[in-house]
Amino acid sequence: MAPETEAPARPVTDSGKATAPRTPPIPAANALPPLGEDPAALAPIDPQDKRVVGGRADINQLAPFKYPWAWEYFLKANRNHWTPLEINMAQDVQDYHHRLTPAERHVFENVLAYLTTSDILAMRNIGLAVMEKMTAPELQIYQARQVYEESLHTWTYQHCIETLNLDQREIYNRYRVVPEIHGKIALSNRRLNAVLRSGLDMGNRDTLHEFALSYLFFAGIFEGCWFYNGFTPIFALQRRGLMKGTAEQLQYIMRDEVLHCGFGIRVVRQLIQEEDLQLDPAALRLLWDEAEAAESAYAGYLFQEPMLGYSADLHREQFRFIANRRARQLGLEEPFPGAANVVPWLDEQVNLRKEKNFFETRVTEYQTGGALNWE
Ligand SMILES: [Fe+2]
Ligand SMILES: [Fe+2]
Repeated sequence: MAPETEAPARPVTDSGKATAPRTPPIPAANALPPLGEDPAALAPIDPQDKRVVGGRADINQLAPFKYPWAWEYFLKANRNHWTPLEINMAQDVQDYHHRLTPAERHVFENVLAYLTTSDILAMRNIGLAVMEKMTAPELQIYQARQVYEESLHTWTYQHCIETLNLDQREIYNRYRVVPEIHGKIALSNRRLNAVLRSGLDMGNRDTLHEFALSYLFFAGIFEGCWFYNGFTPIFALQRRGLMKGTAEQLQYIMRDEVLHCGFGIRVVRQLIQEEDLQLDPAALRLLWDEAEAAESAYAGYLFQEPMLGYSADLHREQFRFIANRRARQLGLEEPFPGAANVVPWLDEQVNLRKEKNFFETRVTEYQTGGALNWE
C-alpha cells in the first residue's frame, strides 16, 4: 500500500450550484414492495436511481455500480487481512515489565485503554447508525467489512491486554474514571447518539445535516485524526526498539483505519453533492474545536511526564496537521492554518516496512496469505 495520499480537493460547498435540489421525498430502496405485488418492481434497475440515502434502486442488487470506488475499497480492505495471533508478542512482555519506565507504562496503558473503548464505539457507529441509512449495496458491503474490522481491532487490543497480563477490569474501566479519556468518548457518543435512531427522517434537511456532520466526524476526525494519530505514542516506543509486537498490531489497524477514513470521506462528499447540502460553517468550526480541545486534554494526561522522543505538544500539533489534511480531503477549509508536520515519520507507518520480518515471525499459516499484496 502506498503512503497515504491526498485526495483531490473538490470544494463540496460549491455543490449547490451543480446539483438539483432534492424533491419530493422518495421511498427508501429497502421499503420497496415485494416482487409480484408491484409491477414496477419487476423492471431492471437503473444504477442512477441509487443514492447514498433515499435511493430507489433495489438494495439487494449489487451491480451495475453507481459507486464503483466503493467496491474497490472492499477489494482493498480484503488485502489487509490478519489476526492478532499471527504477531509475535514475546518481547513485548519483557519490555512492558522490565524495560518501560513508569511514565512510558502510563502512556502505553492509557493509549490502549482509550483504543479499546474507541473501537467498540466505532463498530457500533458504522454498524448501527450509518449502515442502515445507506441505500446502495456497494456502500453497505464495504461497511459490513468495516464492522468486522472494528471487531477485529477490539480483539487485537484484548489480545495485547491478555498477553501482557494487564488488569482487564482496570483497563476497560479507565475511560469511565479518567476525565481526559472520558472526554473523547463522551464527545463521540454524543455524535453517535444523534443519529442512532432507526427510521430517522432523512428527508428532513436538519436531520440530514446532522447525519452528514456525524459521519464526517467519525470518518474525518474520530478515525482520520484520533485513530491515525492516536497510535503515535506507541510507534514512538517502537522506534526505540520497545513494544514492537504491539506496534506492529497497530500498524495493521492503522492500514484499516486509513481505508475507513478515506471511504467515509468519499461517502460524505457524495452525500453532500447528491443532497445539495450546505454544511453550516459554525457547526463545522465547533466540530474541529471540540475535537481539538478533547485531544489536547487527552495528550496532557498521557504525557504528564516527558517521554523520550514524544510529547504532548508534538501530539497536539500533529493532530492539527492531520486535521487540516482531512479538511482538504473533504473539500473544506483548513481548520488550523499553519499547523506543522512535526511527526514526519507517521505516514510511513502505514507502509508496514517490516513485512519481511512479519512473514519470518508469523506463527500460523493463513490460507489466503499467498494473496497478500503489500503495494
Ligand atoms: Fe478500528
Ligand atoms: Fe475504523
